[in-house]
Amino acid sequence: MSSSALRARPSSPAPNDLQSFWLPFTANRAFKQRPRLIARAKDIHYYTPEGRPILDATAGLWCCNAGHNRQPIVAAIQAQAAELDFAPTFQYAHPSAFEAASRLAELAPGDLNQVFFCNSGSEAADTALKIALAYHNVRGEGARQRLIGRERGYHGVGFGGISVGGMVNNRKFFGTLLAGVDHLPATYDREHQAFSRGEPDWGAHKADELERIVALHDASTIAAVIVEPMSGSTGVLPAPKGYLQRLRAMCDKYRILLIFDEVITAFGRLGHAFAAERYGVVPDMITFAKGVTSGAVPMAGVIVRDHIHDAFMSGPDHAIEFFHGYTYSAHPLACAAAVATLNVYRDERLFERARNLEPVWADKFHTLRGLPNVLDVRTIGLVGAVDLAAKPDAVGARGFEAMERAFHDEGLMVRVAGDTIAVSPPLIVTEAQIDEIVQKLGNVLKKVG
Ligand SMILES: Cc1ncc(COP(=O)(O)O)c(C=O)c1O
Repeated sequence: MSSSALRARPSSPAPNDLQSFWLPFTANRAFKQRPRLIARAKDIHYYTPEGRPILDATAGLWCCNAGHNRQPIVAAIQAQAAELDFAPTFQYAHPSAFEAASRLAELAPGDLNQVFFCNSGSEAADTALKIALAYHNVRGEGARQRLIGRERGYHGVGFGGISVGGMVNNRKFFGTLLAGVDHLPATYDREHQAFSRGEPDWGAHKADELERIVALHDASTIAAVIVEPMSGSTGVLPAPKGYLQRLRAMCDKYRILLIFDEVITAFGRLGHAFAAERYGVVPDMITFAKGVTSGAVPMAGVIVRDHIHDAFMSGPDHAIEFFHGYTYSAHPLACAAAVATLNVYRDERLFERARNLEPVWADKFHTLRGLPNVLDVRTIGLVGAVDLAAKPDAVGARGFEAMERAFHDEGLMVRVAGDTIAVSPPLIVTEAQIDEIVQKLGNVLKKVG
């Protein structure tokens, strides 16, 4: 709206239409022609403004692991808002920040004991990369500046994250990105891995490419490797058996920091507090977000091993040790939501529940094999993906149609990445609801043209 328009109608209400909101990662014109609006949520359901229930098969956006609008989480946020709206965590702090941090440290494996808070997974990825660079610097190994990501990786949308990430559309519009970044190859190969349950048997050797990268650049120039234990946003690619263990061994050998981006895989998605636990691998840093508050308030962070944190703790006492942080790092509402969410996970044993449901989920989900255009079905933890054959002239069109049909025809929320449909229900999902998800998704697949 122009400033003269503002002056002409000083007290008129803003029109509540669809014009002004530019939706992120969305086909905006298609959305505005046929919106998918959500007005309310409870447990595993969303409700449209008209009250139509939508079965949430995606835990929002991989985040509402405890389900929606859970009473203890809502109550904790309300109480915190009434008590303390905001307090800075630059040179000051508030009690629930320490409580949230110690609860996370307690859950994390090994000596991953130090928590740096951020507000989004993107910030967490960039923060982890900055900690890696600064860590080598404060130890006198400032030549270790290279960052290694992976093809098809997703680490959010900051410049660090898209540089180490490997999703071409997220990179190609944004120039030359960070210098000195290299990529491991993607782990997925349909020929060897199609219709896998859990970690595919084939592919551990893909980690050995790190040897080639080290041979090319020399270990003394490499700061860190960052990978997702299961790549989610690119279309659900679980690490092959033994892959993460091999990466750990090579990173140890060359004193390269290993970062697990667990923005999706943490908080029960793969049946454990962190996927690191599932694989018996302790990385040097873990990034988390999403499930930490079950999506109720933005929160994210990096959990760091003691020795990395301790390397910064030198110099005079009054000096800032790490020049990094966000105004809303450890926001009181987020900390209250995190503590309440971790209580729900603990009290309802939701990680264990996910672990026990994994085989049931896999059995039911794999029945989608054989439906029209289905090239692959993959499951791991409480995650499933279906790859559809792309239309030769319109990559992504089938995936988009499936999402639209799921919402409008079946009352089902799914996530699509190109022609891959990904589902990841809240961990409270029942066996009957798993049947319903699979049934509805099957109906969709039969109709997609
Ligand atoms: C592995 C991973 N890292 C980072 C991010 C970015 O998180 P955010 O959208 O909160 O910035 C995501 C989001 O899906 C993710 O899956």
